[in-house]
Amino acid sequence: MTDPEPLCESMVSALVVKKKIPGHWADAMRMAPRHLFLPDTIYLYEYGRPGNDLVPLRRSDDPDRWLELCYADEAVNTQVNDGRPALDGTGREVTSSASQPTVVAEMLIELDPRPGERVLEIGTGTGWNAALLAHRVGAENVTTVEIDPAVALRARMALNRAGYDAVRTVTADGAHGWPPGAPYHRVIATVGSRRVPYSWIEQTMPGGIIVAPLSNSYQPPGIAVLTRLPGGGASGRLAGPAAFMALRAQRTPRFNGGAFIGEAERRSSTDVHPYRWVSHRAAAVAIGQRVKDVHKVWQPASGRTGVQWLLDPESRSWASVEVTERPPYPVAQAGPRRLFDEVEAAYRWWRLRGRPEVADWRITVGPDGQRLALD
Ligand SMILES: C[S@@+](CC[C@H](N)C(=O)[O-])C[C@H]1O[C@@H](n2cnc3c(N)ncnc32)[C@H](O)[C@@H]1O
Repeated sequence: MTDPEPLCESMVSALVVKKKIPGHWADAMRMAPRHLFLPDTIYLYEYGRPGNDLVPLRRSDDPDRWLELCYADEAVNTQVNDGRPALDGTGREVTSSASQPTVVAEMLIELDPRPGERVLEIGTGTGWNAALLAHRVGAENVTTVEIDPAVALRARMALNRAGYDAVRTVTADGAHGWPPGAPYHRVIATVGSRRVPYSWIEQTMPGGIIVAPLSNSYQPPGIAVLTRLPGGGASGRLAGPAAFMALRAQRTPRFNGGAFIGEAERRSSTDVHPYRWVSHRAAAVAIGQRVKDVHKVWQPASGRTGVQWLLDPESRSWASVEVTERPPYPVAQAGPRRLFDEVEAAYRWWRLRGRPEVADWRITVGPDGQRLALD
């Protein structure tokens, strides 16, 4: 089997060069090598496979490939279907994963915990991020909460084996934080939420930092970095992009758009290439704030052509924009909502506002909820 050390070193060196990660996080990644935390069975997408498209890769079947994936700068799927794969071992939904090392590093840099500070992590997963935190602040100062008992148990065993047995691994719904360990200097979620739960803010001490990826059906806005205010509540900004699996109670099941797509009720065309309202992050984040519960799905036909779908399974509304070699692009819509019109209006709003950047959004979280507003 390949020696893990050079692979680990090359992943860490790449993060140092490309992402300028500070020495203490690089050392943490060397001292808590990622492969010690990944389960022997991981799951890969096999595109084009209908239904269960997550296929197991067992360490015993291909130890070199398994190890390579441990040190690729990619998320690794570590559990499917809440631990109940199909009889042939395949899965439909990823329910736990080890996040992409670049994203892990970016979030830790934003969190910036100091030695001796108390940290709460929501979403233990493999335990790797908890180990990195433990290396920085001391294992006895880390509490990590995981909703899935089997995932939590595996992480606890990996943390013990790696020498971080003082980390407190709790099996519970992390949406409520973990009050017995509060107040914390830092709170980090490695699972997405539509709104940052107020419990996480309440359990952070004034001046403390909360780092949590936000989710949204249209476009995940990115990583919220908030500071706990002395009088209560928190405020902050959006850092880099990140798409995380949602808190268990906020999951949206993978749906089959084909089940409710029928005859178009309205046809028109647009000269605006969907790239502008789908792939441009600042535009898509703004649109996601203005249209509710819209999912976008790209169905490629060739390299540059295909169909951009907009779907709302709840109201069974859909819209399609056929991306041909050149405009105009034919638009079809049906259902109680006119999804293309909504998205187009939101895109126009964003342009009229002077095309604000992602960094221009301010987030505030109080007992009455979360607000994202432009400066
Ligand atoms: C992306 S993984 C976390 C990655 C992890 N930090 C690591 O280092 O491997 C997200 C985890 O959050 C867990 N999760 C989902 N909903 C949760 C909740 N309400 N409370 C606690 N954990 C939750 C999932 O079971 C999953 O293991």
